Amino acid sequence: MRKWMVAGNWKMHTTIPEAVALAGQVSAGVKGLSAGEVVLAPPFTALAAVSDVIKGTPVSLASQNMFYEEKGAYTGEISPLMLKDAGCTYVIIGHSERRKYFHDLDENINLKIKKCLAAGLKPILCVGETLEEREQGITEFVVGLQVKKALYGINAIDDVVIAYEPVWAIGTGKNALPIEAEEVHRFVRHLVGDMYGEVCARTRILYGGSVTQDNIGDLIGMEDIDGALVGGASLKSEGFLGIINKVLEKR
Ligand code: 13P
Repeated sequence: MRKWMVAGNWKMHTTIPEAVALAGQVSAGVKGLSAGEVVLAPPFTALAAVSDVIKGTPVSLASQNMFYEEKGAYTGEISPLMLKDAGCTYVIIGHSERRKYFHDLDENINLKIKKCLAAGLKPILCVGETLEEREQGITEFVVGLQVKKALYGINAIDDVVIAYEPVWAIGTGKNALPIEAEEVHRFVRHLVGDMYGEVCARTRILYGGSVTQDNIGDLIGMEDIDGALVGGASLKSEGFLGIINKVLEKR
């Protein structure tokens, strides 16, 4: 059985004191949890402080991005070694907002995943189609290409988490129907199966896009949905803990 994961992507929100408070509330709320995995992805500035807060709790730390070089003259970038040093276990890579606003291309995403794994960090690879692509009926083509390009030349698939985040569902309040999401998750699992063989049964695939405590129950009930990557609803501890509790009820 795959271990479920609920990850909170705080995006460009929270000052350090706000992040510390929120992380403290979340870790207190999941005390004693052993079943699944809870991950927090605060902004870079709050990583080290949140790392201190979650020490000794079941919560793990993720960053929202990284650069693929270890060090050097790359003004404004953060390396995998720095993220490890700050206490990260996971790195979100290829989020649609990075693809859209910061020109994160599949080739760079592939390099980032390689360097992330080489540093002993685990990538959470984000993929997903736009509304236009869905309406054109090319969702599987788009998502399939993103997965294949991102994982090109990568062997350590067991350390990779994939997040299916349809772009049209992010921050819109319009989540994919559980069956719509399941169709893409099943497609991705089969694709990983074609690439890596039976290990695909172990690959965790999260759903992301307007997840709340009201819709997670039906989503997590789907066979190939192993958890959620949560944006807006992860910024308040009640909402985020509500999602985790719903997952616990269903799993
Ligand atoms: P929302 O939950 O705010 O739609 O964001 C989803 C997301 O982008 C998580 O990475």
